Amino acid sequence: LEFTIRKPDDFHVHFRDGEMMRLVVPETERHFGRALVMPNVPAIEDGRQADDYRARILDSLTSPDGDFFPLMTIKLTHRTTPEMIGEASEVHGVVAAKLYPEGATTGSHDGIRDVEELRPVLAAMRDCRMVLCIHGEWPEAFVLEREERYLPAVEWIVKHFPGLRVVLEHITTAAAVKFVEDASVNVAATITAHHLVLSLDDVLGQGIRPHHFCYPVAKTYVDRSALVYAVAHGKCRRFFFGSDTAPHRRHDKESACGCAGIFSAPVALSVLAGVFFGDEDHHNTLKHRQAALERFTSINGAEFYGLPLNEGTVTLADEPWAVPQTYDRDGDGGGPATVVVPFRAGERLRWRVASS
Ligand code: DOR
Ligand code: ZN
Repeated sequence: LEFTIRKPDDFHVHFRDGEMMRLVVPETERHFGRALVMPNVPAIEDGRQADDYRARILDSLTSPDGDFFPLMTIKLTHRTTPEMIGEASEVHGVVAAKLYPEGATTGSHDGIRDVEELRPVLAAMRDCRMVLCIHGEWPEAFVLEREERYLPAVEWIVKHFPGLRVVLEHITTAAAVKFVEDASVNVAATITAHHLVLSLDDVLGQGIRPHHFCYPVAKTYVDRSALVYAVAHGKCRRFFFGSDTAPHRRHDKESACGCAGIFSAPVALSVLAGVFFGDEDHHNTLKHRQAALERFTSINGAEFYGLPLNEGTVTLADEPWAVPQTYDRDGDGGGPATVVVPFRAGERLRWRVASS
């Protein structure tokens, strides 16, 4: 049994820099046509930095002549000006800016405290047709309520800038699903692979599982079902795939204060295939499920961003494979090796990416 779909995009990745970047970029390049690169680590705050970072990413590709295309973002801080938005929007590959609430996650210490301060910047983004990506968590709220508590800020933005395209990143709650479904055509959301299969039980329910820990944290079974329903059966075409693949070194995750982030790039499509072609789904034919997966990974996001659909295809085959325990890279110049534990490390996954 196998399925071929149009080549997917990943609208939310963390590529980092240096050795880590050289280790992880090929895992995204392998399966995806394009990836939207987040600007938190390293901090990318203007067009020039985005351009340099993009060049370093292109340098770490294993097939520089292939057609993998990094899409770039800049991070909004209190230093961002409308002029910086205008300049960045002219840089090849830059399509979006990312709003991190101050202190919400890794690399957000200089994030935004009050979205109303962003008025001139958001107006410039609307005028340059730049997309606003939002890490929608209210950092001071109880960890399980942070996403829902941030929705009023998103509502304020959407109300005051109806012409601005807004993406709520990595949503994890039924409330966020409903928010997007009820919103205008300019409001969309990315959903990760891991949030379609994890709940908080997988993080804390049987020992503490640092490789299942990320922000926003995986929530209840009801929330997870709402996400799965939205992508597999829902009518709204404004949900699309963003893996939020976020590698950290093994010792930074397996720690008394472990970093948030799941390195999912190597397994993301296999996990998604498990969700869409899983056995529990008695309502949809295989053809329907394949079409739903393709919309989620390869069509909805490109259409929202106004990009052409990818030309190539990927084939997912029912051929179980063992996920490596770690992805490693020897340190340059004799330095320590970079070791990253992937999502589903050591497990057997049913669906393999047979060709891409
Ligand atoms: O879990 C996360 N990791 N969430 C984020 O928002 C950032 C990311 C990272 O950069 O490690
Ligand atoms: Zn992220």
